[in-house]
Amino acid sequence: MSRSAVTSTPVHPLLAERWSPRSFDPSYEVTDGQLAALLEAARWSASANNVQPWRFLVGRRGDETYKAVHDALIGFNQTWAGNASVLIAAVAAERRPDGTPSATAQYDTGLAVAQLTVQAHAEGLHAHQMGGFLPDRITAAFGIPEGFRPLAVIAVGAVAEATALPDEKLRARETADRVRRPLTETFFAGGWGTPVDLG
Ligand SMILES: Cc1cc2nc3c(=O)[nH]c(=O)nc-3n(C[C@H](O)[C@H](O)[C@H](O)COP(=O)(O)O)c2cc1C
Repeated sequence: MSRSAVTSTPVHPLLAERWSPRSFDPSYEVTDGQLAALLEAARWSASANNVQPWRFLVGRRGDETYKAVHDALIGFNQTWAGNASVLIAAVAAERRPDGTPSATAQYDTGLAVAQLTVQAHAEGLHAHQMGGFLPDRITAAFGIPEGFRPLAVIAVGAVAEATALPDEKLRARETADRVRRPLTETFFAGGWGTPVDLG
């Protein structure tokens, strides 16, 4: 089953074919090399003034970090994410090294996560980002210091068949068409709302 993006012109296959499954193979173990590649991809992301405001908590299925991150997910996400090989919590420093509030920490951290998700695809894996979790639970479980804020949890693993999902609603979402707002309603030039001319 192809989940590839329908684009007006070809884009890099890693980008076109990336998608966020909920059905993960519960027996698949991510190798040390794959995991290291994901983390290096995030580490080498760009950030404002190269501050690198991100930190990551990395759990592998079966270990204590994974369990604590999984415990912090909202119920809906717990129904499917526990089959992923790895659960990663992305955390951002809310202040710059000089103590002033950072206006870009969330942007920077999201960019690092984007690189991680694309590298996951390059490793033959899939990633699924989640905002549905309780940040305070992560903060408490890991003793995250003041000034650091958990932003997202990312499930990574090998995609499995949609039929393996536990209920019909999840199965239907897994195979539904992937959609995006049109280019003309997203990219403007000359004035707000005026589509950029792509020829
Ligand atoms: C910041 C963020 C938070 C998200 N939160 C959740 C979530 O809590 N649960 C979930 O099932 N999917 C979540 N998603 C996945 C999106 O629903 C998904 O990326 C979107 O529908 C587009 O699908 P695609 O990634 O397959 O292209 C989240 C994605 C992002 C980027």
